[in-house]
Amino acid sequence: MADEKILIVGAGRMAQAIIKGLKQAGFTNVLVGNNGNVERLEEVESRFGVNSTEQWQNHVSDQNIIILAMPPEAHDEVLAELSEVVEKQLILTVAAGIDVSYMQERLPEGTPVSWLMPNTAAAKGQSMTLFALGEHVNDQHEYYIEKILFSIGQFKKLTETQMHALTPITGSGPAFIYRMADNLIKEAQKSGISEVTAKQLIAQMIKGSAEMLTSDLKCPQDLMDEVASPGGVTERGLQVFEKYHFDEMMREVIEACLERAELDE
Ligand SMILES: NC(=O)c1ccc[n+]([C@@H]2O[C@H](COP(=O)([O-])OP(=O)(O)OC[C@H]3O[C@@H](n4cnc5c(N)ncnc54)[C@H](OP(=O)(O)O)[C@@H]3O)[C@@H](O)[C@H]2O)c1
Repeated sequence: MADEKILIVGAGRMAQAIIKGLKQAGFTNVLVGNNGNVERLEEVESRFGVNSTEQWQNHVSDQNIIILAMPPEAHDEVLAELSEVVEKQLILTVAAGIDVSYMQERLPEGTPVSWLMPNTAAAKGQSMTLFALGEHVNDQHEYYIEKILFSIGQFKKLTETQMHALTPITGSGPAFIYRMADNLIKEAQKSGISEVTAKQLIAQMIKGSAEMLTSDLKCPQDLMDEVASPGGVTERGLQVFEKYHFDEMMREVIEACLERAELDE
């Protein structure tokens, strides 16, 4: 399987995170194309030891799997180009809002497709990737998809409706955690520690909290209660979350993401 020929169209942040995971997992036949930024292709080649092409369209027939890692709005054009040359290769996209129905409508009848929703932790082999399968995906294709996803972290098969609902949570979610981390790092620096030390403290705190959530059977509310003794320091801090309607804000954050994703469809 590691000898499968994989073409990645797109060489940006998500593509690079996936390439890193694939290379670490021993995939050797990875070819990368993009929209003409030659400098970026050269950088990706030298950084990850993959091959690149300025004309990915000329290489489709040699590939087994094609991963689309470019913006949602570029998909119409790229799927039209792919339709001219594709011969039942497995086509995967990581784009927000580009579900399997969307791809099936634009690709030749019988093309196996899958919609993947990874996050940038793929670069560390720690993505939580959601995926939905198109109607022409067979067991062998699914095996390939899972092998690729395993190389970048954990994964969960869902329906496309569920994936639409969860894209803001596992796809965009890391940015929300980093936003909070950024604030905490700045607050920590007020004690006189360096930014590097502050980042270490906060990163380990988040990692430890994630570990508790993962391994402990307790729900987040129980874990919060363990930290916040009645009348204590943490409880006072949590009261400020209430004062500024944190729950309502989080709901609006997710709704805003969903609205934006719908605009792309
Ligand atoms: N970033 C995330 O955390 C994340 C998470 C989940 C899913 N995604 C999805 O991943 C996709 C890529 O996001 P990104 O953050 O990696 O974007 P990015 O860093 O801006 O990179 C976009 C890449 O797409 C290429 N591209 C644009 N139009 C193209 C076209 N017409 N044909 C071929 N290549 C084209 C660009 O080519 P050039 O190099 O020539 O500019 C660039 O390499 C998006 O659909 C996004 O929804 C991202």
